[in-house]
Amino acid sequence: MEKRGSWGSNFGFLMAAIGSAVGLGNLWGFPYKLGANGGFAFLVIYLVLVASVGFIVIIAELAIGRRSGKTPVGAYTKFNKKFIFNGWLGVLAAFVILSFYSVLGGWSFKYLITYGLEIFGAGFNGLSSSAFFTNFTSDPVQVIGFTALFFIVCAVIVIFGVEKGIEKSSKIMMPALFVLLLVVIVRSVTLPGASAGLEFMFKPNFNFLTDGSFFKVIGAALAQMFFSLSLGMGAMMAYGSYLNKKSNIEKNAFIIPLCDTIIAILAGLAIMPAVFAFGIEPTAGPSLLFIVLTEVFTSMGAVGPFFGFAFYLLVVFAAITSGISLLEVTTSYFVDEKKMARKKSTIIAVIATFALSIFAALSFSSLSWVQLPILNGGLIFVDIFTFLDYVGEYLFMIVGTFFICIAVGWATPGGINAVIEEVEMGGVVFKTKKVWSFMIKFVTPILIFTIFLMTIIGIIGV
Ligand code: PHE
Repeated sequence: MEKRGSWGSNFGFLMAAIGSAVGLGNLWGFPYKLGANGGFAFLVIYLVLVASVGFIVIIAELAIGRRSGKTPVGAYTKFNKKFIFNGWLGVLAAFVILSFYSVLGGWSFKYLITYGLEIFGAGFNGLSSSAFFTNFTSDPVQVIGFTALFFIVCAVIVIFGVEKGIEKSSKIMMPALFVLLLVVIVRSVTLPGASAGLEFMFKPNFNFLTDGSFFKVIGAALAQMFFSLSLGMGAMMAYGSYLNKKSNIEKNAFIIPLCDTIIAILAGLAIMPAVFAFGIEPTAGPSLLFIVLTEVFTSMGAVGPFFGFAFYLLVVFAAITSGISLLEVTTSYFVDEKKMARKKSTIIAVIATFALSIFAALSFSSLSWVQLPILNGGLIFVDIFTFLDYVGEYLFMIVGTFFICIAVGWATPGGINAVIEEVEMGGVVFKTKKVWSFMIKFVTPILIFTIFLMTIIGIIGV
């Protein structure tokens, strides 16, 4: 049997965990949701949810992971056998989420390479940003090829292992991402007309209190938070399982969401002023990152390709550090439960996920006719990509987090004490112990359940 991995340092763990959290969800999801859902008001709700759900659940996930020294399935086997299904759900969620995330990762690579070529005048070949995007996404060979490239990069890192692969690469990519983000922000906020973007993001708009969209705004904030913090699907549990017994779980659980939120706000500062300076629709969603921003870089003239290259490099870094955490969940299942070698486990996980990602990739071209049902404010039909996103992001992550609260707070004799004991290992003082115990038992699960139910029955449309 292979030796289990572990982090070389707490800083390395933090870079990997923040790397998992910071991803495409921060770069395009947060800024436009903030703008579309009441600006500063959304930010306040988001922060309240990060404190009352995010922070609470990360503590539980890291503690259960570290206590068992196993990733989701094994972790529940040790914590409470009745909840093994939640470990399985985590592995399944990682598999489903990576299947569509990898497609976006592939797109990011395509744009990075195109901007690299554009520096020499050979990237877009004069095509408009939307024509370029449509040509690319409707070309099955290219889209699948770039998705494969994303998988290969993630696989190589995961094969190198926890310390030499995930930790080492995150320690380079995360600080680089931060610096690149600052560079893009400086350019963005100094564009003429940029202040409208800042106003869009931060001007308090409390209309949602009276215009009937109250639950929609809260629902949007909750779903965004689950996805952004990689909650409830085993990624944090897996990363926690490699954590040193001496490291302070509570402190880490505070730093991860804090950095994730700061980067999400910084991403808004980088993107929104530019979007407004060039008079573009700020709520364009995913295409904001690929169509709209290309427009912005093109209008910058000679320096455009350089900023484009820097920007997509940071997008690629964000996508990879999240992708490897998803891949680690499925890989470590084979390592821990099937006692397979890491290399073999990674290859099996990649082949299985890549097979599903082909369907996600083709939903923009040859499979665009396939429509699948989801429950979202009533029964609606969506393409394969949206279906996988919905199942992974809204269903599995929310349900998974709810059952973590139930497992710890209600269904395991001594569950709360087991987590407390783990956090207090090595003489660490668990400062919010009392509040945490109350929250995980009552407030957090009730909040999740209520908001989830409203999403399904349609008071909220996500
Ligand atoms: N948190 C990542 C993002 O914001 C996505 C992710 C979800 C990564 C679940 C790992 C697990 O893009």
